[in-house]
Amino acid sequence: MSSQNKLRTITKAVIPAAGKGTRLLPLTKAVPKELIPLGKKPVLEHIVEEVIGAGISEVLFVISEEKTAIRSHFGDGIGGVRFEYAFQAEQKGLADAVMCGRDFTGDDPFAVVLGDSVIETDQRTTPFERVLNTHRDTDASGVIVVQKTPLAEVSRYGIVSPKHGTAPSFEIDGLVEKPKPEQAPSEYAIAGRYAFDASIYDCIRRTKPGANGEYQITDSIGIMLNDAKSVWCVALGPGEVRRDIGTFPSYFEALEVEIAKHSGR
Ligand code: G1P
Repeated sequence: MSSQNKLRTITKAVIPAAGKGTRLLPLTKAVPKELIPLGKKPVLEHIVEEVIGAGISEVLFVISEEKTAIRSHFGDGIGGVRFEYAFQAEQKGLADAVMCGRDFTGDDPFAVVLGDSVIETDQRTTPFERVLNTHRDTDASGVIVVQKTPLAEVSRYGIVSPKHGTAPSFEIDGLVEKPKPEQAPSEYAIAGRYAFDASIYDCIRRTKPGANGEYQITDSIGIMLNDAKSVWCVALGPGEVRRDIGTFPSYFEALEVEIAKHSGR
């Protein structure tokens, strides 16, 4: 590996997990949504395994005072991988949650992995590994996993605008959080896995409240593009699915898939 590639190799991940989980009440009254079961393990343990499997050795969980059960579950680390915790005082949006990683990441590039979003894959190299590889092999300041999504559902997601070409990986020239279908620049929705250079922090500082009145990381990435930095996307393949555990329909789907894996055992 060249020294340049070494500098661009990511070993730190920030996992935002401070959200209130209101769409899963009453299940999430006392249990964080990230700790609800997905088969034999909580949702978040599947995600932590995905992250460690990709070579991450330091993980920061961004939690809230009400969600210390996450720290009780994961502790200080496992098998040489170090776990740390930061508290997000108020749930002001994903950009604010990522900002909580500032001291943890220092000036190193890092990954962001949403704690309520699982990705099934039939590929040998997982989408998250492809994000890390794309960051290492390009000059991108940001890399995002995206999933082709029906136009009727785009208003739930951040939607990217491909610069030229699309799957399996492509550069973008714009993006918008939760657009109306007629305003969506494509059908590629942001799917919960990112890689960033430390330049994202300055972009977050310049981000104003956006969709839902929250500080949106999508808007911070837009500022990154305005700064003439390059941002790449990694598209999920036809046999890959992202499931947001934050709503009952997709939680039940993920649970069915997991139960099917274990049936007969
Ligand atoms: C967040 C992001 C959005 C992304 C989605 C799914 O939205 O802001 O861009 O598409 O996660 O990964 P949320 O689900 O918090 O509304």
